[in-house]
Amino acid sequence: MRAFNYDIPTKVYFGEGKIKHLPDLIKQFGNKVLLTYGGGSIKRNGIYDEVQDLLKGCKIFELSGIDPNPRIETVREGAKICKENDIDVILAVGGGSTIDCSKVIAAAAKYDGDAWDLVMDGSLITDALPLVDILTLSATGTEMNFNAVITNFDVKMKQGTASKHLYPYASILDPTYTYTVPANQTAAGTADIMSHTIENYFQAEDNAFITDGLSESILRATIKYLPIALEDPENYEARSNLMWASTVALNGLTSMGKGGGWTTHPIEHYLSAYYDITHAVGLAILTPRWMRYILSNKTVDRFARYANKVWDIEETDDKFAMAEEAIEKTYQFFVDNGLPMTLPEVGIETDEHFEEMAKGPAERLSRAYVPLNPEDVVEILNRCMTE
Ligand code: NZQ
Ligand code: ZN
Repeated sequence: MRAFNYDIPTKVYFGEGKIKHLPDLIKQFGNKVLLTYGGGSIKRNGIYDEVQDLLKGCKIFELSGIDPNPRIETVREGAKICKENDIDVILAVGGGSTIDCSKVIAAAAKYDGDAWDLVMDGSLITDALPLVDILTLSATGTEMNFNAVITNFDVKMKQGTASKHLYPYASILDPTYTYTVPANQTAAGTADIMSHTIENYFQAEDNAFITDGLSESILRATIKYLPIALEDPENYEARSNLMWASTVALNGLTSMGKGGGWTTHPIEHYLSAYYDITHAVGLAILTPRWMRYILSNKTVDRFARYANKVWDIEETDDKFAMAEEAIEKTYQFFVDNGLPMTLPEVGIETDEHFEEMAKGPAERLSRAYVPLNPEDVVEILNRCMTE
């Protein structure tokens, strides 16, 4: 196992009704609140009214309309509201896009230059407003991590930034708030959870027994509970397990004692930056193709373990057969749960940008579990064009 530090300051309030803690969490910071949210789902499902009720007495400013794949322009707008009105605390209510956008707003509110500087270089973040969030979609893990991903279409970049100042102060995780997440977003969110886990699971260190066991447990939970959540959207057991899986998959625990770079995420961020597709749909399409591409004598043991521990495939001497079956099951799981599995299905009809896109993540992919060069990426993307 590699050495590590683990230091996450975020307070987690998990379970039905935990919103009751909201007034105390917010009011300790002051009276002026910036409430951020997306396209209106929180108005339709009643969370907006609940928040307004609980925060009576606070002066609430609003930034709504935060898009999936949040834009730098929205960050700038939010930072301006914070600076002009001397906001005390930000309350983000929504999925990863709303929370990520709010994280960078919180930092940009304390920064004199342009917010995009902070996305390009997290070390420039030296302070941030406190951020409390109410998560409404199980997917990204942003509720308990220090990352934020922002898109700048002007320069065709979707870029992650990170800083210890970006941890939410507190996250309210009430699984009942995810009952209204539509089927396609539920499936996509689960693919994101799986991808975060898989990115950490497929790494060079094979002796991080506890960490790998946790990853296997998360993957088994997603495989068990996604179909239940789709069939019965108000199933608390399914929604609560998916919600906690989302948090644990990317709050650092699945990488403790391990290390190395990721693969499908760096590639997917370029797909989203060029085509504005749903993050996790891109991941679902890429993951099985990437797995097949890197299967070799060097990686087959890890795949065989994945096959046995995650998919219950019987152990045999033919580890390649086990690996192939596990990759096929991964692919089929996404298909069975309604995810589009080719790029043309999400509107990417030609390979015209593949070579250009493949250059973007080159540096990161040189540090991946199996390092990839731009030609490898183009080949993987080409394989995503057909079933
Ligand atoms: O905008 P509203 O109206 O709220 O609708 C949203 C949006 O259309 C809807 N939704 C959310 N909660 C709902 C709901 N609809 C009904 N009922 C609810 N309870 O779902 C749609 C998608 O929301 P979004 O926030 O975009 O999804 P997600 O949570 O998957 O976030 C995706 C973003 O997070 C980034 C992605 O790249 C993408 O930009 N990521 C952030 C990470 C991090 N900070 O650590 C890591 C991830 O790998 C990822 O890159
Ligand atoms: Zn992701």
